[in-house]
Amino acid sequence: MKLKYAFEIVGDVAIFETEEKRKDKKIAEEIVKAHKRVKTVLKKISERTGVYRIRKFKLVLGKETETIHKEHGCRYRLDVRKVYFSPREGTERERTAKQVKPGERVLVMFAGIGPYPVIIAKKQPEVERICAVEINPKAVEYMKENIRINKVSDKVVPVLGDVKEVCKKWEKEFDRVIMPLPKEGYRFLDTAVKCLKPKGILHFYFYDSERNLFNKAVGLIEKAAKKAGRKAKILSKRKVLPYGPRVWKICIEAEIK
Ligand SMILES: C[S@@+](CC[C@H](N)C(=O)[O-])C[C@H]1O[C@@H](n2cnc3c(N)ncnc32)[C@H](O)[C@@H]1O
Repeated sequence: MKLKYAFEIVGDVAIFETEEKRKDKKIAEEIVKAHKRVKTVLKKISERTGVYRIRKFKLVLGKETETIHKEHGCRYRLDVRKVYFSPREGTERERTAKQVKPGERVLVMFAGIGPYPVIIAKKQPEVERICAVEINPKAVEYMKENIRINKVSDKVVPVLGDVKEVCKKWEKEFDRVIMPLPKEGYRFLDTAVKCLKPKGILHFYFYDSERNLFNKAVGLIEKAAKKAGRKAKILSKRKVLPYGPRVWKICIEAEIK
């Protein structure tokens, strides 16, 4: 009988989820047979939790969980057990990077192991500077290495710390602020608005159900802008990826006047 499972591959690590009972080894062997580069197979055994947005895994096959993932011409070293990373978001990262214009100063909040700042610097070599803030020390360690191996050290500044604290000092400093933390990101909208120059662009990620998709996120952005005595002009509203039954990860892009 055909085994039912879903999986993704990060570098040479495959990660699967399944409802099948006592079939973990068989599933791992099937994945390895079909994907020769896979050396380690993990099974998801929890949702993503905590501030660092990481999950628990069962090691089913292999040993090493640190790997190098290649995406749109960039290379990222990471350990899936210690930091957040999702290969499914690669297209969204590239799409965002292509919007950045020469001379821009960009703030990437919640930067993880650095895939947003790295691909922005690669796709837009004339960007002025990218500040990348992340609270997980292990993720910042990897981000520093990823900045180095992708040769973008002259453009990307990694910063370890809480966005709420670190970004206090920046007022109207950035042309663009990216907020890739859909679950809790709305709590940092005031900070993001404050960091943006007049007419700066905000990329706000959020989870929302299919009913009334976008309305809540747009309301949150407008409220934060108003609180700062500014105005939000919505530039685009998009579904990014499915998240759960009738729930989507969405992105709103807005100009903050
Ligand atoms: C959804 S992940 C996105 C990571 C990365 N941008 C990517 O695309 O792979 C969110 C990241 O935000 C970090 N984070 C959560 N709260 C934070 C805060 N208050 N300040 C800075 N980083 C935070 C987490 O540790 C996690 O790495």
